[in-house]
Amino acid sequence: MHVIGGSASTALAERISRELGNAPFAIPFVKRFPDGELYVRIGGRLTNEDVVLVQSTRGDQDIIELLLLEDAIREAGARRLIVVVPYFGYARQDRSFFPGEPISARVLARHIEQDADAVVTVDLHSPSTRSVFAKPAYEATGIPAIARLLRERPVDLLVSPDKGGVERVRRMSELLDKPWLALEKKRIDSDHVELALPEHVPVDLEGKHVIIVDDVISTGGTIVEAAKLLKRRKVGAIAAACTHGLFLRDAFERIKAVTDDVYSTDTLVNPAEKASVAPDIAQILKREGPSP
Ligand code: R5P
Repeated sequence: MHVIGGSASTALAERISRELGNAPFAIPFVKRFPDGELYVRIGGRLTNEDVVLVQSTRGDQDIIELLLLEDAIREAGARRLIVVVPYFGYARQDRSFFPGEPISARVLARHIEQDADAVVTVDLHSPSTRSVFAKPAYEATGIPAIARLLRERPVDLLVSPDKGGVERVRRMSELLDKPWLALEKKRIDSDHVELALPEHVPVDLEGKHVIIVDDVISTGGTIVEAAKLLKRRKVGAIAAACTHGLFLRDAFERIKAVTDDVYSTDTLVNPAEKASVAPDIAQILKREGPSP
């Protein structure tokens, strides 16, 4: 099995190749023409090879690069192509909320699937995002990666900033054998949220090491408000942990100002990458990867 790392996910792709027993690993040549168009080139033939292509699709340029690489891999003679999209952009628009809207997640899935035999993602936005795939699609989760990291650190309580994250925080609490709670969240606009503690708080918060666990950190508004709320209850230390660290604008600095640590997995390149999803993705590839 060959592993190719697109420019949005080079380091993670290399980690995946190591997890696959040092599978041959390559980084394609990528450049931009003067008019802004992308050029990609992979080295050598891949006749009858199974290939894993890893590329997050945070920005539109990442999407074009991914599609060009898929075509290049097919042209090079690959027998089977599994596309790993650690952060799957456009996942939030997984249905038409208003008449006239596209189902953006489905558009992206269709284009990626065209040259792929299977797609692997990590912590998609919601279960309904999974239904946009027509070909075999597998979803890893960042929860075990974050749990592996937290095992080495003091943890008294896990907190989900909203009810939507209950399954995530519950699973983490099982792995770490720690209590959890979910805050009540009301979104005001894309940058602001209001948060409140639930009626029943399972432990006395004073002096405790609390980890706020989310799937995505985007503007940072959710984590900042959650940290402020917990500080008012005199917790001892606060860390924020997420699978996908987008950290838009000054989000990372704003979160650092109100927490003691920030942890993210490596689905996106960011300053908080401390846990790797490579073992979890490799596990899926080992199970599903080899050609029949
Ligand atoms: C919401 O459904 C997600 O789980 C995250 O809480 C949200 O996307 C975080 O966004 P932000 O960092 O902009 O508050």
